[in-house]
Amino acid sequence: MEKNRKTITDNTVDPDVLAYTVGDDPVLDLALAVWDCMGTAAHVTMLSEMKGLRRPVVTKAEAARVRRELGRIAALAEKGGFEIRVDDQDVHMAVERMLTEKLGDLGKKIHTGRSRNDQVAVDVRLHMKDELLRAEAETVSLAASLRRLGKRGGMTPLVGRTHLQPAMPSTVEMWATGHAEMILDQLENLEAAYRLADLNPLGSAAGYGVPLPLDRQRTTKLLGFSRTIHNCFGASMARGECEASLLSALAQLMAVVSRLAEDLILFSMPEFAYFRLPREYCTGSSIMPQKFNPDVLELMRSKAAQVLGLQTAALSLLHAMPGGYNRDLQDCKWLYMKGLSITRQTLRILAKVVDGTKIDADRCRAAFTPGVFATDVALRLVAGGTPWRDAYHDVRDHLERLSDEDPDAAVAAKTHEGTTGGIDHDVYEKREVAAMKSVEKRLAALAAAKSALLK
Ligand code: ARG
Repeated sequence: MEKNRKTITDNTVDPDVLAYTVGDDPVLDLALAVWDCMGTAAHVTMLSEMKGLRRPVVTKAEAARVRRELGRIAALAEKGGFEIRVDDQDVHMAVERMLTEKLGDLGKKIHTGRSRNDQVAVDVRLHMKDELLRAEAETVSLAASLRRLGKRGGMTPLVGRTHLQPAMPSTVEMWATGHAEMILDQLENLEAAYRLADLNPLGSAAGYGVPLPLDRQRTTKLLGFSRTIHNCFGASMARGECEASLLSALAQLMAVVSRLAEDLILFSMPEFAYFRLPREYCTGSSIMPQKFNPDVLELMRSKAAQVLGLQTAALSLLHAMPGGYNRDLQDCKWLYMKGLSITRQTLRILAKVVDGTKIDADRCRAAFTPGVFATDVALRLVAGGTPWRDAYHDVRDHLERLSDEDPDAAVAAKTHEGTTGGIDHDVYEKREVAAMKSVEKRLAALAAAKSALLK
């Protein structure tokens, strides 16, 4: 038995090359430590149950010892006490080192029939599932903040704009719940990313399977995945693709959220002043004492651009990569992790800003100009029997005849579904409740699978 190896796999690598290839894994992989323990616990359990072997790779009692030790390592990781050394290269080797330090030869058996390729793919997917569900909950919370802002504003008239020009009578409620609805719709993309993440690649090993009777359905069940990725080569190629799908969902969500940030910047500037942003969320200037700037919202525009960049980076990295595992895939890790952290932080902070936003109803009403009522005037002519196109030209040819009207009456007069007087808050509240319930159920199932494997 060889002692004093520098690393578990190799001791011949040039230190600069080792550092380059290890990259940021010792830091990034800390987020995967608990999931790595969970994946290993499932793998070892399955190994101990394999039938048809002359001698078991590990016995059931040994698997139980490994699981107990993995439970201790996971608890350490959850407290922030887990350490990955450059010599370990990554979390996978660090866990194997710790198990071997504690359990001797038994620790050296846990990697039987597995590669780091399927191992890391499992870790990333479990981590993604957990993070995606939390991101979904934060998405719902932001939509709820907007629904409440809509309720506070109610039928307060707001100038509806197209091309940024005054267009038609709208309300604060319509504006706020319109954004809420766009944000809730983004759950569909997050769910699509979740469904792709919820597939088990374990047992594909390096991407071609192994001559052992692995029970891949068993680890799928133990880990709580919806199904197994059937083809081992396909399972290895799915790494990176699911990160890219996640980033695509995040990029689109950020683009939606960034438009809300932009509206808030615009409508809170003094020239509009429909909204007042909470002072404590505005930042000052080092020279101009009067300034309360919406830096936080401006950064959301820039973060949206960055997440789109991360998605582009992931797809660029993937598109010309040959089939099978390539080390390029390691670089997908920080892309998806960064995308998640930017998006989740943005969702949380934007919800706070929306909750603190005050509505200046006088300024909202004062912004109405006679032109905003032009379409309503033409429609009154239609009610008197004039064909629409004649009514349109009649108003357009005599715009000087338009006068101030009561914006409150104008917004109350529109009552069909989804217009100013026809917005049903229950629609949003019901969607929020259903989405939260489904998120909580799945978070509980993931936590239950984790604690069953790591007790
Ligand atoms: N840290 C590596 C990654 O994220 C683990 C897999 C290494 N596999 C390999 N064949 N070198 O991709």
